[in-house]
Amino acid sequence: MTIIAPSILSADFARLGEECRAAQDAGADWLHVDVMDGHFVPNITIGPMVVAAIRPLVTVPLDVHLMIAPADPYLEAYAQAGADILSIHPEAGPHLHRSLRRIRELGAKAGVVLNPATSPESIRWAMEEVDLVLVMSVNPGFGGQSFISSQLAKIETLRAMIDACGKEIILEVDGGVTPLTAPQCIAAGATALVAGSAAFKGGPAAYAANIAALRGG
Ligand code: DX5
Ligand code: ZN
Repeated sequence: MTIIAPSILSADFARLGEECRAAQDAGADWLHVDVMDGHFVPNITIGPMVVAAIRPLVTVPLDVHLMIAPADPYLEAYAQAGADILSIHPEAGPHLHRSLRRIRELGAKAGVVLNPATSPESIRWAMEEVDLVLVMSVNPGFGGQSFISSQLAKIETLRAMIDACGKEIILEVDGGVTPLTAPQCIAAGATALVAGSAAFKGGPAAYAANIAALRGG
């Protein structure tokens, strides 16, 4: 069963706690938390204090996507705030292998995120420190962008790399995931899908149907 991780970037921030609970009640497997610094990406969002505030409100894992550079000085704060998965971009620091190892030392699962132009080769020699690979199917920074179809071939390449290494690495896709593009991602080998606008459109009464539609109806 594909993991569905609604991105709270598309939630109503003025009612964030209720939105997190509503997404969980509607069948979300994880909640995806987009952390942006206005430097690595052209937008600013969520600090560790906000992650700590929502942590006690839900039981589902918090999948924290760090779009910040440098990321290393903040790993501990997000882990302590309650991140279950902490994902970083290779471009965010000089020592990807060391940063991934540090995330695991802090007790979280370690994720690595590939921008649309970033090659799967950039993580080949760090695979032993990886619990999750996140393929960006939009350029990071904003919700509501269109899915970049060229990333499907990258998902297939990563599926083959993961199968070859024999480890149970989660392959997640983020950006422009809708009921139309979700089946393409799954067919290419994805095991987890992030959805912002497609999950949170229509308000809380629609969340269960939105999530079911992402699973294929
Ligand atoms: C984009 C974020 C995504 C975003 C996805 O930088 O990483 O998680 O919330 O939003 P949608 O699903 O609307 O493309
Ligand atoms: Zn994200």
